[in-house]
Amino acid sequence: MLVLRTVDELRRWSRAARSAAGNIIGLVPTMGALHAGHTSLIRAARAACTHVAVSLFVNPTQFGPNEDFSRYPRSFESDCTLAAAEGADVLFAPSVEELYPNGPDSTFIEVPALSQRLDGQSRPGHFRGVATVVAKLLLAAEPDRAYFGQKDAAQVAVIRRLVADLRLATEVVVCPIVRDPDGLALSSRNAYLTPSQRAQALTLSRAVRHVESLVAQGERRASAILVAAHEFFRAEPAIRVDYIELVDWSTLEPVATAAPGTLFAVAARVGSTRLIDNTIIT
Ligand code: PAJ
Repeated sequence: MLVLRTVDELRRWSRAARSAAGNIIGLVPTMGALHAGHTSLIRAARAACTHVAVSLFVNPTQFGPNEDFSRYPRSFESDCTLAAAEGADVLFAPSVEELYPNGPDSTFIEVPALSQRLDGQSRPGHFRGVATVVAKLLLAAEPDRAYFGQKDAAQVAVIRRLVADLRLATEVVVCPIVRDPDGLALSSRNAYLTPSQRAQALTLSRAVRHVESLVAQGERRASAILVAAHEFFRAEPAIRVDYIELVDWSTLEPVATAAPGTLFAVAARVGSTRLIDNTIIT
Protein backbone atom coordinates (compact mmCIF):
# COMPACT_ATOMS: atom_id res chain seq x y z
CA MET A 1 0.00 0.00 0.00
CA LEU A 2 1.30 3.40 -1.01
CA VAL A 3 1.14 6.23 1.52
CA LEU A 4 0.66 9.55 -0.30
CA ARG A 5 0.90 12.95 1.36
CA THR A 6 0.14 15.47 -1.39
CA VAL A 7 -2.81 16.24 -3.64
CA ASP A 8 -0.53 16.12 -6.69
CA GLU A 9 0.62 12.60 -5.84
CA LEU A 10 -2.96 11.43 -5.36
CA ARG A 11 -4.07 13.04 -8.62
CA ARG A 12 -1.15 11.48 -10.53
CA TRP A 13 -1.94 8.04 -9.08
CA SER A 14 -5.62 8.37 -9.96
CA ARG A 15 -4.97 9.62 -13.49
CA ALA A 16 -2.46 6.85 -14.17
CA ALA A 17 -5.02 4.29 -12.97
CA ARG A 18 -7.71 5.88 -15.12
CA SER A 19 -5.58 5.79 -18.25
CA ALA A 20 -6.24 2.05 -18.68
CA ALA A 21 -9.69 1.14 -19.99
CA GLY A 22 -11.98 -0.61 -17.55
CA ASN A 23 -10.31 0.60 -14.37
CA ILE A 24 -12.62 1.85 -11.63
CA ILE A 25 -11.29 4.09 -8.87
CA GLY A 26 -12.90 3.98 -5.44
CA LEU A 27 -12.32 6.48 -2.64
CA VAL A 28 -13.12 5.92 1.03
CA PRO A 29 -12.85 9.21 2.99
CA THR A 30 -12.16 8.81 6.74
CA MET A 31 -10.78 10.69 9.70
CA GLY A 32 -8.85 7.61 10.81
CA ALA A 33 -9.10 5.71 14.11
CA LEU A 34 -10.38 3.00 11.81
CA HIS A 35 -12.92 0.48 13.11
CA ALA A 36 -15.12 -2.19 11.53
CA GLY A 37 -17.50 0.50 10.19
CA HIS A 38 -14.67 2.03 8.19
CA THR A 39 -13.30 -1.32 7.07
CA SER A 40 -16.76 -2.30 5.78
CA LEU A 41 -16.53 0.68 3.41
CA ILE A 42 -13.01 -0.30 2.30
CA ARG A 43 -14.21 -3.86 1.72
CA ALA A 44 -17.17 -2.65 -0.36
CA ALA A 45 -14.83 -0.48 -2.42
CA ARG A 46 -12.34 -3.35 -2.82
CA ALA A 47 -15.13 -5.63 -4.08
CA ALA A 48 -16.37 -3.17 -6.71
CA CYS A 49 -13.32 -1.18 -7.83
CA THR A 50 -9.98 -2.00 -9.45
CA HIS A 51 -8.19 0.76 -7.51
CA VAL A 52 -8.98 1.80 -3.94
CA ALA A 53 -7.75 4.86 -2.06
CA VAL A 54 -8.54 5.50 1.59
CA SER A 55 -8.11 9.04 2.84
CA LEU A 56 -7.17 9.68 6.44
CA PHE A 57 -7.49 13.29 7.51
CA VAL A 58 -8.82 14.71 10.76
CA ASN A 59 -10.50 17.70 9.17
CA PRO A 60 -10.24 20.76 11.43
CA THR A 61 -12.93 22.76 9.64
CA GLN A 62 -15.74 20.35 10.58
CA PHE A 63 -15.04 20.71 14.32
CA GLY A 64 -16.49 23.60 16.31
CA PRO A 65 -14.22 25.71 18.54
CA ASN A 66 -15.22 23.79 21.68
CA GLU A 67 -15.33 20.35 20.09
CA ASP A 68 -12.90 17.44 20.22
CA PHE A 69 -10.52 18.21 17.32
CA SER A 70 -7.39 18.17 19.47
CA ARG A 71 -8.31 15.01 21.38
CA TYR A 72 -9.90 13.15 18.44
CA PRO A 73 -8.35 9.64 18.45
CA ARG A 74 -5.36 9.33 16.14
CA SER A 75 -3.77 5.94 15.40
CA PHE A 76 -1.83 6.24 12.16
CA GLU A 77 0.20 3.02 12.44
CA SER A 78 -2.74 0.72 13.16
CA ASP A 79 -4.87 2.55 10.55
CA CYS A 80 -2.16 1.75 7.95
CA THR A 81 -2.18 -1.90 9.00
CA LEU A 82 -5.99 -2.12 8.82
CA ALA A 83 -6.31 -0.31 5.48
CA ALA A 84 -3.57 -2.49 3.95
CA ALA A 85 -5.18 -5.66 5.33
CA GLU A 86 -8.48 -4.69 3.64
CA GLY A 87 -6.63 -4.32 0.34
CA ALA A 88 -6.42 -0.53 -0.04
CA ASP A 89 -3.93 0.44 -2.74
CA VAL A 90 -3.34 3.94 -1.43
CA LEU A 91 -3.61 5.67 1.92
CA PHE A 92 -3.86 9.42 1.38
CA ALA A 93 -2.83 11.22 4.57
CA PRO A 94 -2.24 14.91 3.86
CA SER A 95 -1.29 17.63 6.34
CA VAL A 96 -3.71 20.46 7.18
CA GLU A 97 -1.51 22.85 5.17
CA GLU A 98 -1.68 20.53 2.15
CA LEU A 99 -5.49 20.58 2.02
CA TYR A 100 -5.90 24.17 3.22
CA PRO A 101 -2.87 25.95 1.66
CA ASN A 102 -4.35 29.42 2.23
CA GLY A 103 -5.98 28.72 5.57
CA PRO A 104 -9.30 27.12 6.49
CA ASP A 105 -11.61 29.95 5.40
CA SER A 106 -9.97 30.92 2.11
CA THR A 107 -12.43 28.91 -0.05
CA PHE A 108 -15.30 26.78 1.16
CA ILE A 109 -18.28 24.78 -0.07
CA GLU A 110 -21.63 25.30 1.61
CA VAL A 111 -24.90 23.47 0.99
CA PRO A 112 -27.16 26.10 2.57
CA ALA A 113 -30.42 24.20 2.11
CA LEU A 114 -29.13 21.38 4.32
CA SER A 115 -26.37 22.86 6.45
CA GLN A 116 -28.61 24.03 9.33
CA ARG A 117 -30.50 20.76 9.61
CA LEU A 118 -29.95 17.88 12.09
CA ASP A 119 -26.29 17.90 13.18
CA GLY A 120 -25.86 21.26 11.46
CA GLN A 121 -28.22 22.83 13.97
CA SER A 122 -26.19 21.95 17.05
CA ARG A 123 -22.82 21.99 15.27
CA PRO A 124 -22.76 25.29 13.34
CA GLY A 125 -20.27 25.13 10.48
CA HIS A 126 -19.94 21.35 10.70
CA PHE A 127 -21.49 20.56 7.33
CA ARG A 128 -19.62 23.40 5.65
CA GLY A 129 -16.41 21.77 6.86
CA VAL A 130 -17.54 18.33 5.69
CA ALA A 131 -18.70 19.62 2.28
CA THR A 132 -15.47 21.55 1.78
CA VAL A 133 -13.12 18.69 2.60
CA VAL A 134 -15.14 16.09 0.68
CA ALA A 135 -15.19 18.37 -2.38
CA LYS A 136 -11.40 18.76 -2.10
CA LEU A 137 -10.94 14.98 -1.81
CA LEU A 138 -13.24 14.27 -4.77
CA LEU A 139 -11.51 16.90 -6.91
CA ALA A 140 -8.09 15.48 -5.99
CA ALA A 141 -8.85 11.77 -6.41
CA GLU A 142 -11.47 12.06 -9.18
CA PRO A 143 -12.92 8.70 -8.09
CA ASP A 144 -15.60 6.84 -10.03
CA ARG A 145 -17.15 5.89 -6.70
CA ALA A 146 -16.91 7.31 -3.20
CA TYR A 147 -18.02 5.27 -0.20
CA PHE A 148 -19.83 6.67 2.85
CA GLY A 149 -21.65 5.14 5.81
CA GLN A 150 -25.37 5.48 6.49
CA LYS A 151 -24.24 5.98 10.10
CA ASP A 152 -23.79 9.67 9.19
CA ALA A 153 -27.04 9.91 7.25
CA ALA A 154 -27.32 13.71 7.23
CA GLN A 155 -23.72 13.91 6.01
CA VAL A 156 -24.72 11.59 3.16
CA ALA A 157 -27.54 13.98 2.20
CA VAL A 158 -25.09 16.92 2.15
CA ILE A 159 -22.56 14.98 0.05
CA ARG A 160 -25.15 13.71 -2.42
CA ARG A 161 -26.38 17.29 -2.87
CA LEU A 162 -22.91 18.75 -3.41
CA VAL A 163 -22.00 16.01 -5.91
CA ALA A 164 -25.24 16.71 -7.82
CA ASP A 165 -24.88 20.50 -7.70
CA LEU A 166 -21.18 20.54 -8.66
CA ARG A 167 -21.97 17.96 -11.39
CA LEU A 168 -19.11 15.77 -10.17
CA ALA A 169 -18.65 12.48 -12.02
CA THR A 170 -18.51 10.42 -8.82
CA GLU A 171 -21.15 7.92 -7.76
CA VAL A 172 -21.92 8.18 -4.03
CA VAL A 173 -22.21 4.67 -2.55
CA VAL A 174 -23.84 4.36 0.89
CA CYS A 175 -23.05 1.33 3.08
CA PRO A 176 -25.09 0.00 6.04
CA ILE A 177 -24.40 0.88 9.68
CA VAL A 178 -22.01 -1.56 11.37
CA ARG A 179 -22.93 -2.23 15.00
CA ASP A 180 -21.44 -4.00 17.99
CA PRO A 181 -23.31 -7.23 18.85
CA ASP A 182 -25.37 -5.36 21.49
CA GLY A 183 -26.53 -2.84 18.89
CA LEU A 184 -24.31 0.18 19.56
CA ALA A 185 -23.33 1.77 16.25
CA LEU A 186 -19.54 1.75 15.88
CA SER A 187 -17.98 5.18 16.14
CA SER A 188 -14.47 6.47 16.76
CA ARG A 189 -16.03 8.51 19.58
CA ASN A 190 -17.16 5.35 21.44
CA ALA A 191 -13.57 5.27 22.71
CA TYR A 192 -14.45 8.25 24.96
CA LEU A 193 -17.17 6.31 26.84
CA THR A 194 -16.71 4.85 30.33
CA PRO A 195 -18.26 1.36 30.80
CA SER A 196 -21.37 2.85 32.45
CA GLN A 197 -21.71 5.51 29.72
CA ARG A 198 -21.37 2.81 27.10
CA ALA A 199 -24.32 0.98 28.69
CA GLN A 200 -26.36 4.23 28.65
CA ALA A 201 -25.38 4.82 25.03
CA LEU A 202 -27.36 1.71 24.06
CA THR A 203 -30.48 3.85 24.47
CA LEU A 204 -29.83 5.28 21.01
CA SER A 205 -29.87 1.94 19.18
CA ARG A 206 -32.78 0.73 21.31
CA ALA A 207 -34.79 3.80 20.32
CA VAL A 208 -33.92 3.13 16.68
CA ARG A 209 -34.99 -0.52 16.95
CA HIS A 210 -38.20 0.51 18.72
CA VAL A 211 -39.07 2.91 15.91
CA GLU A 212 -38.36 0.18 13.35
CA SER A 213 -40.75 -2.15 15.15
CA LEU A 214 -43.46 0.54 15.46
CA VAL A 215 -43.27 1.14 11.73
CA ALA A 216 -43.30 -2.61 11.08
CA GLN A 217 -46.53 -2.74 13.12
CA GLY A 218 -48.05 -0.12 10.83
CA GLU A 219 -47.44 3.18 12.67
CA ARG A 220 -46.81 5.97 10.14
CA ARG A 221 -47.63 9.17 12.07
CA ALA A 222 -44.46 11.16 12.74
CA SER A 223 -45.99 12.64 15.92
CA ALA A 224 -46.58 9.18 17.44
CA ILE A 225 -43.17 7.88 16.38
CA LEU A 226 -41.34 10.90 17.81
CA VAL A 227 -43.24 10.77 21.12
CA ALA A 228 -42.38 7.07 21.48
CA ALA A 229 -38.71 7.76 20.77
CA HIS A 230 -38.58 10.60 23.33
CA GLU A 231 -40.08 8.19 25.90
CA PHE A 232 -36.99 6.02 25.61
CA PHE A 233 -34.74 8.87 26.63
CA ARG A 234 -36.93 10.08 29.50
CA ALA A 235 -35.97 6.88 31.35
CA GLU A 236 -32.27 7.78 31.00
CA PRO A 237 -31.84 11.25 32.49
CA ALA A 238 -28.04 10.98 32.15
CA ILE A 239 -28.47 11.27 28.38
CA ARG A 240 -29.22 14.66 26.87
CA VAL A 241 -31.09 14.47 23.60
CA ASP A 242 -29.76 16.80 20.94
CA TYR A 243 -32.38 15.95 18.31
CA ILE A 244 -34.87 13.23 17.44
CA GLU A 245 -36.23 13.73 13.94
CA LEU A 246 -38.14 12.09 11.15
CA VAL A 247 -37.13 13.74 7.88
CA ASP A 248 -36.98 13.30 4.14
CA TRP A 249 -33.50 11.86 3.55
CA SER A 250 -32.71 14.14 0.62
CA THR A 251 -34.07 17.49 1.88
CA LEU A 252 -33.67 16.76 5.63
CA GLU A 253 -37.03 18.51 6.11
CA PRO A 254 -39.42 17.06 8.72
CA VAL A 255 -42.21 14.84 7.42
CA ALA A 256 -45.66 14.30 8.93
CA THR A 257 -45.87 10.71 7.75
CA ALA A 258 -43.20 8.03 7.59
CA ALA A 259 -42.76 6.56 4.11
CA PRO A 260 -40.12 4.39 2.42
CA GLY A 261 -36.90 6.40 2.36
CA THR A 262 -37.79 8.52 5.39
CA LEU A 263 -34.87 9.01 7.77
CA PHE A 264 -35.38 8.58 11.51
CA ALA A 265 -32.33 10.11 13.19
CA VAL A 266 -31.25 10.73 16.75
CA ALA A 267 -28.32 12.54 18.36
CA ALA A 268 -27.64 12.58 22.08
CA ARG A 269 -24.89 13.38 24.55
CA VAL A 270 -23.68 10.78 27.01
CA GLY A 271 -21.47 12.78 29.37
CA SER A 272 -19.60 15.03 26.98
CA THR A 273 -19.64 12.50 24.12
CA ARG A 274 -22.05 13.20 21.30
CA LEU A 275 -23.41 10.08 19.60
CA ILE A 276 -25.73 9.61 16.62
CA ASP A 277 -27.80 6.77 15.22
CA ASN A 278 -30.53 6.35 12.62
CA THR A 279 -32.61 4.09 10.46
CA ILE A 280 -34.11 4.46 7.02
CA ILE A 281 -37.76 3.46 6.90
CA THR A 282 -38.27 0.62 4.42
P1 PAJ B 1 -15.37 9.30 9.92
O1 PAJ B 1 -16.19 9.62 11.11
O2 PAJ B 1 -13.97 8.79 10.12
O3 PAJ B 1 -16.16 8.26 9.05
C1 PAJ B 1 -15.68 7.87 7.79
C2 PAJ B 1 -16.77 7.09 7.09
O4 PAJ B 1 -17.06 5.91 7.84
C3 PAJ B 1 -18.09 7.90 7.00
O5 PAJ B 1 -18.65 7.73 5.72
C4 PAJ B 1 -18.93 7.27 8.08
O6 PAJ B 1 -20.33 7.37 7.85
C5 PAJ B 1 -18.46 5.83 8.02
N1 PAJ B 1 -18.79 5.13 9.27
C6 PAJ B 1 -18.50 5.52 10.54
N2 PAJ B 1 -19.02 4.68 11.44
C7 PAJ B 1 -19.66 3.71 10.72
C8 PAJ B 1 -20.43 2.55 11.07
N3 PAJ B 1 -20.63 2.21 12.33
N4 PAJ B 1 -20.96 1.82 10.07
C9 PAJ B 1 -20.76 2.17 8.76
N5 PAJ B 1 -20.05 3.25 8.37
C10 PAJ B 1 -19.52 4.01 9.34
O7 PAJ B 1 -17.40 10.87 8.40
C11 PAJ B 1 -16.26 11.31 8.47
O8 PAJ B 1 -15.21 10.59 8.99
C12 PAJ B 1 -15.88 12.67 7.93
O9 PAJ B 1 -16.95 13.55 8.11
C13 PAJ B 1 -15.42 12.64 6.45
C14 PAJ B 1 -16.54 12.18 5.51
C15 PAJ B 1 -14.19 11.74 6.29
C16 PAJ B 1 -15.01 14.08 6.03
O10 PAJ B 1 -14.02 14.57 6.87
